[in-house]
Amino acid sequence: MPNSANSCPIIGIGGWAPDFGEERAAKAKKWLLSALKNGYRHIDPAYSYGTEKAVGEAIIESGIPREDIFVFSKLPSHHGRVLELIQESLDNLGFKWLDMYLMHWPFSAPYELEGLKLNILKHDIAVVAYNPSGTDIVRKDPVIVELAAKYNATPTQIILAWHLSRNVVVIPKGTNEERQKENHNLPTLEEEDLKKINALDRGQRICNKGDENGLVYGMSIEDLGW
Ligand SMILES: NC(=O)c1ccc[n+]([C@@H]2O[C@H](COP(=O)([O-])OP(=O)(O)OC[C@H]3O[C@@H](n4cnc5c(N)ncnc54)[C@H](OP(=O)(O)O)[C@@H]3O)[C@@H](O)[C@H]2O)c1
Repeated sequence: MPNSANSCPIIGIGGWAPDFGEERAAKAKKWLLSALKNGYRHIDPAYSYGTEKAVGEAIIESGIPREDIFVFSKLPSHHGRVLELIQESLDNLGFKWLDMYLMHWPFSAPYELEGLKLNILKHDIAVVAYNPSGTDIVRKDPVIVELAAKYNATPTQIILAWHLSRNVVVIPKGTNEERQKENHNLPTLEEEDLKKINALDRGQRICNKGDENGLVYGMSIEDLGW
């Protein structure tokens, strides 16, 4: 499959949908259409989110040319069926090409955080933050709340702005149109405030943090290389 010439906008819209049952695709299509209307040109679907069809339909209904939107998908854990699953994703989306194809769960590829950072500065690799708002655990942190007041912004805007300061791509999911606009219009944080946010690191995981035995999908954090 040829690479497209599209580059990846640094703010995207999340494509994962909680289990909405039969309404899942219709709800996803609604928030994706409003995101496209509000300037988002990067969408983050995956085969396993079950929203690829909604992504394709939203793009077509938006009237925005496919070439103007960065769309990718992700290989689920069936690593021996790559071509077949790319084709299924393309069929679901209704498109002939993807701008990028990721391995959703590279279980067998452990990395060292420091090594990752170093290799990124060397190979110019972009990193994407999923679950970028950090949920209410981060949103309600007093430092974040204080900075939100200082910048006349919402806590989520402060958190997303911090990601952008590190050149990390963000894909906040948002069904609410006003919040979609907020998340696409971020303040620039001062150096001293970025330092305050850096200092919040507690070495804790929020997403995929493991069950009561510390296992994620049956694997330990160490086995996953995280
Ligand atoms: N590769 C992976 O394994 C993986 C794992 C997790 C996520 N992801 C991707 O990352 C995307 C984002 O992750 P996520 O949905 O878990 O987390 P998130 O984007 O950090 O948070 C989404 C939640 O925050 C709310 N929200 C959005 N903007 C807000 C604002 N300005 N103020 C207050 N609340 C706000 C949304 O509410 P409303 O929807 O009601 O607006 C939604 O409940 C997913 O959709 C998916 O595409 C990938």
